[in-house]
Amino acid sequence: MTIKAVQVLSEADVLVVPKAKENGHSTALNIVKSHVDLGGKEIVEVCFPMHKVYNGGENNKELTEAWNKAADIIRQKLQTGKVAFPTLGDPALYSTGFYVHATLLEHDPDMDIELVPGITAMSNCSAVTATPLCLGGELLSVIPATFTDDRLEKVLEGFDTIVLMKVHRVMDRMVELLDRLNLLSRAVLVEKCGQPDQRIFTDLRQAAAEDIHYFSTIIVRKKS
Ligand SMILES: C[S@@+](CC[C@H](N)C(=O)[O-])C[C@H]1O[C@@H](n2cnc3c(N)ncnc32)[C@H](O)[C@@H]1O
Repeated sequence: MTIKAVQVLSEADVLVVPKAKENGHSTALNIVKSHVDLGGKEIVEVCFPMHKVYNGGENNKELTEAWNKAADIIRQKLQTGKVAFPTLGDPALYSTGFYVHATLLEHDPDMDIELVPGITAMSNCSAVTATPLCLGGELLSVIPATFTDDRLEKVLEGFDTIVLMKVHRVMDRMVELLDRLNLLSRAVLVEKCGQPDQRIFTDLRQAAAEDIHYFSTIIVRKKS
């Protein structure tokens, strides 16, 4: 977490925290807990089910309801104090944070919301594996591994470094694709980066053979 994030979260009276399953725990809250004293703060957990978001298209009803619920709670709690919404990594990168932000602005376009940048998973994965993302004139692309092979292949061919996110359920497909493009030896996977049980796999076949966690990211860097 950044100093700024710790400051903002420490000053908040209420934390509205995202979690993926109704009966699960919030990873964002667990991370916050280790850096911020939660004593005296109200914690409200909101479940955001995992569904694809189609920008400009029709979104999943459950998910839209979750964004509205979070926005309603935030608006209500703001009447008595400061509210913060911690999210994993940076809110600008495939994050619930920006959907909640947009939902709040739909109700009140002048609402005063401060976005606090975070450390992306790819930055952390780059650091723990000492893999630069971009040097000199290189180009970087970030893409969810759940996209079609066709799209992935174009990106893998057209960029110098490629960050593959959300890889955990499609590992066999990733191994096959990277192998076909002769990029398997250029790939590294980090699972639960920055957490006590973090694992680094330089052999993606081994990662594919295991039940790796949703918090897994692959960096493919073509140049050594
Ligand atoms: C919904 S996206 C959130 C990305 C986040 N906003 C960021 O700034 O990196 C979830 C994906 O981020 C990656 N991720 C999140 N936390 C991670 C971690 N601790 N280690 C490795 N990858 C992680 C994984 O690819 C995961 O599937």
